[in-house]
Amino acid sequence: EKGGFRSFMDKEIHDQPHAVADTLLGRTDAQGRLVLDEVRIDESVLRSVDKIVVIACGTAAYAGQVAKYAIEHWCRVPVEVELAHEFRYRDPVVNERTLVVAVSQSGETMDTLMAVRHAREQGAKVLAIVNTHGSTIPREADAVLYTHAGPEIAVASTKAFLAQITAAYLLGLYLAQLRGNMFADEVTAILDELRAMPDKIQQVLDRAGRVREIARWMADTQSVLFLGRHVGFPVAMEGALKLKELAYIHAEGFAAGELKHGPIALIEPGQPVFVIVPSPRGRDSLHSKVVSNIQEIRARGARTLVIAEDGDEAVRPFADEVFYVPKSPTLLAPLLAVVPLQVFACELATAKGLDVDQPRNLAKSVTVE
Ligand code: F6R
Repeated sequence: EKGGFRSFMDKEIHDQPHAVADTLLGRTDAQGRLVLDEVRIDESVLRSVDKIVVIACGTAAYAGQVAKYAIEHWCRVPVEVELAHEFRYRDPVVNERTLVVAVSQSGETMDTLMAVRHAREQGAKVLAIVNTHGSTIPREADAVLYTHAGPEIAVASTKAFLAQITAAYLLGLYLAQLRGNMFADEVTAILDELRAMPDKIQQVLDRAGRVREIARWMADTQSVLFLGRHVGFPVAMEGALKLKELAYIHAEGFAAGELKHGPIALIEPGQPVFVIVPSPRGRDSLHSKVVSNIQEIRARGARTLVIAEDGDEAVRPFADEVFYVPKSPTLLAPLLAVVPLQVFACELATAKGLDVDQPRNLAKSVTVE
């Protein structure tokens, strides 16, 4: 049932074009308008929402952090992302005008479930983004938007992450349409871009040979750092989490802008650093700032492993390796940039002889607080 792959994780990484495509499927009407019938919360309530709080744990929380950038940009509503286990214990400001979005692959994570209960007690509406049908969180939520990633067997999450970002983006576009922040044709244009992503994810997978090779060479590495900015920041955190979980290697994800505020002290000769570079076609100067970061750490001896968009030649002089991904709109780029990081962790752990499907000390669903 591993479909010829060495591990479920490898298979699930390769399932990702389908996970995204299937999550997009059947969510528009004959006119191509986005309809999310599952969002069974009164339209008047959704129009009056003045804050969105995403609660989740681990990888699902990183998906929420990515979605924050898109939803705030599209809907002009403040979005907070909070780890479910922290949310409940800090007396959060949540009321009838708060939309709480609980993100969970399993739908059984106890921390997330308890946060859902707490939010509903405060009068908030709760929408769950969940992969597993018939699980507990959707039963307790006001509505559920299912991700269609298919069963995720490997303990570490991969395809669910891409599906969660996709579903959260559908929600963001739906709210933007409903609340009048975006015209129908703007929503359609972004949906078209989203529909183009599965092919691009496939291209990233097709090009992954080099990242596998490097991962095998790096099997003895003690520590890897990950830098990203804007939507690339949660991607960096997710890359680090995958490496910790699968390969038991110390790894940290940082916001690239934070480098000079501390983490740059960690850079010594030979330190491998992945850098997720934003598109040079982006509106502001983020690209050049991240390129400067690469230059700074390279000057201190870091081994720079760069993920950049096709055609981005500016990164080359400072990169020990460049993994190019197809061009995409900035907000959608995480669906591509994370893939080489997943492949890297999976391949490195496999090279170390570890069981990537069942890393030590971890369980697929964490049903205790
Ligand atoms: C990471 C991982 C965990 C889960 C987290 C939430 O690879 O698997 O961090 O993402 O435990 O689980 P769900 O999404 O089932 O609530």
